Amino acid sequence: MSFLRLSEIDVHGQHLFIRADLNVPQDDAGNITDDTRIRASLRGMRDALERGAAVMVTSHLGRPKEGQYSESDSLAPIAARLGELLSRNVPLIRDWVEGGPWHRELKSGDLALLENCRFNKGEKADSDALAQAMAKLCDVYVNDAFGTAHRAEATTHGIARYAKLACAGPLLAAEIDALSKALANPGRPLIAIVAGSKVSTKLSVLTHLAARVDSLIVGGGIANTFILAAGGRIGKSLAEPELVAEAKAILDRYPGKVPVPVDAVVAKERSATAGTLKAIEDIAPDDMILDLGPETVLGVKTIIARAATIVWNGPVGVFENDAFGEGTKALAHAIAASRAFSIAGGGDTLAAIAKYGVADRMGYISTGGGAFLEFLEGKTLPAIAILEDRAATAKK
Ligand code: 3PG
Repeated sequence: MSFLRLSEIDVHGQHLFIRADLNVPQDDAGNITDDTRIRASLRGMRDALERGAAVMVTSHLGRPKEGQYSESDSLAPIAARLGELLSRNVPLIRDWVEGGPWHRELKSGDLALLENCRFNKGEKADSDALAQAMAKLCDVYVNDAFGTAHRAEATTHGIARYAKLACAGPLLAAEIDALSKALANPGRPLIAIVAGSKVSTKLSVLTHLAARVDSLIVGGGIANTFILAAGGRIGKSLAEPELVAEAKAILDRYPGKVPVPVDAVVAKERSATAGTLKAIEDIAPDDMILDLGPETVLGVKTIIARAATIVWNGPVGVFENDAFGEGTKALAHAIAASRAFSIAGGGDTLAAIAKYGVADRMGYISTGGGAFLEFLEGKTLPAIAILEDRAATAKK
């Protein structure tokens, strides 16, 4: 992929418009519960400030109704957190699209946070008028929002068409580099672990990856649907019987590539404090599969140990409950210990990585949820495509 990078531009004295993804989880009182995305976005901001740019940063938060301000979706808590992390006051600007005194006063070395870009009418629909108005605010548009790269919105897509220069910030560039390394020209064997509750949300990822990887490990509710497809028992476990045919098609098309679990940790309820280990053929009608069993985990660990590239999305069991966390824990440690280049993404996966303390031993941790999955599906992400278009046009 070829696109202009922030590091290639002399930004001194330039007005920069950085689209970040600062869409972080908050509790009911509005406190940020995980600031990973804010921290991951600091590099681009610091680099621009150190090199003397006048910096505007915006992001979406949640999915507010366009055309009206709502306090619960305000970036105020983000401004406060950003201020702490950057050790400076971060002013938060409302109604910023048309510029104004705040914009005239923004000088080299200043940083202002522009309120939730989804408050602006036309943001979701990628309005041309909105994109043009925003492009007028800057000399350089910087997209550093990998988490929103799968959305064609005015701040992720339209503005990139109209800004004088459009480039990728360091976070977006690092994500693309890592994902391309893992998927475009991977070291082999390449293995993917795709787990989570539903086949339906990940069917196209499974189908796309099955054709490309050397092994596809399934876990969670997804594995249950594959167990059904292979003729096994799952009791009252979470599964999608209507997708058994699709799962069977993958198993038949790629024989031996998708190992189906042979044992599992089961219980009668998800809230149980202990599980029972059972072979798949012994699972009773009222059992629920809540984790992979040790024999299955051993097989997975053997595959991981031989891999040169590992892509991981989704925990393989109900790891939030320690009674059903052993499979995910073993997998996390096996990936951490392997010599492979590993890339992990998705909210639950990141929570598992944090829980088992292996973050520093992953090759790359993506900040993307939906964007990470769409990249794995082989889809073109509109925010990246427009930067490539701009680079290609500039070369002509
Ligand atoms: C995410 O959390 O996946 C991104 O910030 C995108 O958010 P969205 O699904 O509301 O577009």
